Amino acid sequence: MQPLYEKYTPFTLNGIVGNRPAVQKLETFGAAVNGGARPRPIMIHGPSGTGKTTAAHALAYVNGFDIIELGANDYRDADSLQKKLLPATVSKGLFSKTSLVIFDEIDELSAKFDSGAESVITQIVRTAKQPVVFIANDYWSRKISFLREKVDQVDFKRVPKDEILALLKRILEKEGAKVDESTIEEIAKRNNGDIRGAINDLEIMIDAKPELLENLGIRDRKGEIFQILDKIFTCNNFDMARNAANTNDVSMDMLFNWVNENVPNRYASKSSLSESYDNLAKASMFLENAERTKYYGYMRYSSVLMSAGVAIANRGIGTYKMYAFPSNIKYLSKTKKSRDAINSVAKKLMPMLHAHKRDIINDFLPLLKAMIEKASEQMGDDEMLQELETRYGLDKDEVKAIREYYKLR
Ligand SMILES: Nc1ncnc2c1ncn2[C@@H]1O[C@H](COP(=O)(O)OP(=O)(O)O)[C@@H](O)[C@H]1O
Ligand SMILES: [Mg+2]
Repeated sequence: MQPLYEKYTPFTLNGIVGNRPAVQKLETFGAAVNGGARPRPIMIHGPSGTGKTTAAHALAYVNGFDIIELGANDYRDADSLQKKLLPATVSKGLFSKTSLVIFDEIDELSAKFDSGAESVITQIVRTAKQPVVFIANDYWSRKISFLREKVDQVDFKRVPKDEILALLKRILEKEGAKVDESTIEEIAKRNNGDIRGAINDLEIMIDAKPELLENLGIRDRKGEIFQILDKIFTCNNFDMARNAANTNDVSMDMLFNWVNENVPNRYASKSSLSESYDNLAKASMFLENAERTKYYGYMRYSSVLMSAGVAIANRGIGTYKMYAFPSNIKYLSKTKKSRDAINSVAKKLMPMLHAHKRDIINDFLPLLKAMIEKASEQMGDDEMLQELETRYGLDKDEVKAIREYYKLR
């Protein structure tokens, strides 16, 4: 299934929502190239999901340029970079088309990367016979300071909420789908100018319950879980994946849940799956150790295992499926109240059972729940409640909480 954001990617500059001044600069740039000039390279920059990559592709499309595109994966070694860029140094012949050279996510240029890349790129800027576009999230990143005086800026801004709202409604109409008004509003608002995020949320909400929206809040944060997942599942590169997970924007257990849920959506081969799950199992062990011992150094191992450990298991991506929402986060949100209640029951029982709260929740209460049901059948609720009151000091509400909690599982 094709994801909605892909299906509705505009291929012309007119189709780009918002950012008129930036789009106009691109039109001018395209016209100059078509007029035979070789304008200074441009640097499209701005927050993710605002249409930077889409706009660069549209620029090529509307002007009939071919595309030579480089992405974060290409910035690893100078040699392959050079090879890939070779065609850009050739003047277009009589019949061949202009090629737009797009350096996407140029701020991913790693600092550790042998400085060869910098000189290859500088060289291209100086000598390329073809027009050059750089794209970056962070114009001020130190990794690309060497480029700043060589480019003209095209500044993409967060797209205003109303424009996103209108786009979401157009998409819903074309899809013949319904999402209630307040949810669409909320999606448009909380994505804070990020159109990809908004469309992804919309897609999730088309067949989800409104309670889910609460969880989508994670995308408010800059790190964007989908982007982190994209990096992990497509980059095939240890450092890049590890860095992607190295963020304060998403908690490690949240990331774990997302990766864990989506491994089978991304990887097709059995060896990829088993290697991923192997590393995820270890990641989860370290997470648990960190929590148990309060030694958070374990988090580092966990983070590397769930990101790089899954990335290097990549033996080619299967057919595209939308990222699935982790089922246990859904579960957690549905039962927040119920979890609070069960926690307080377990706490109450701790001195009596001389056991850990977690063990009570995992081992003791499920048994008790079975006994409660049996007792309720055999002696009726009143007597059963009496019994629990005298034996464990549990009141009616607490018994109810136990029955509810374990019913849900
Ligand atoms: N300005 C926009 N107008 C229409 N669609 C957009 C726009 N920005 C983003 N999108 C949608 O979001 C997706 C991701 O956009 P992309 O160009 O990759 O963002 P960026 O490169 O800025 O992170 C696109 O495929 C498109 O569906
Ligand atoms: Mg992009």
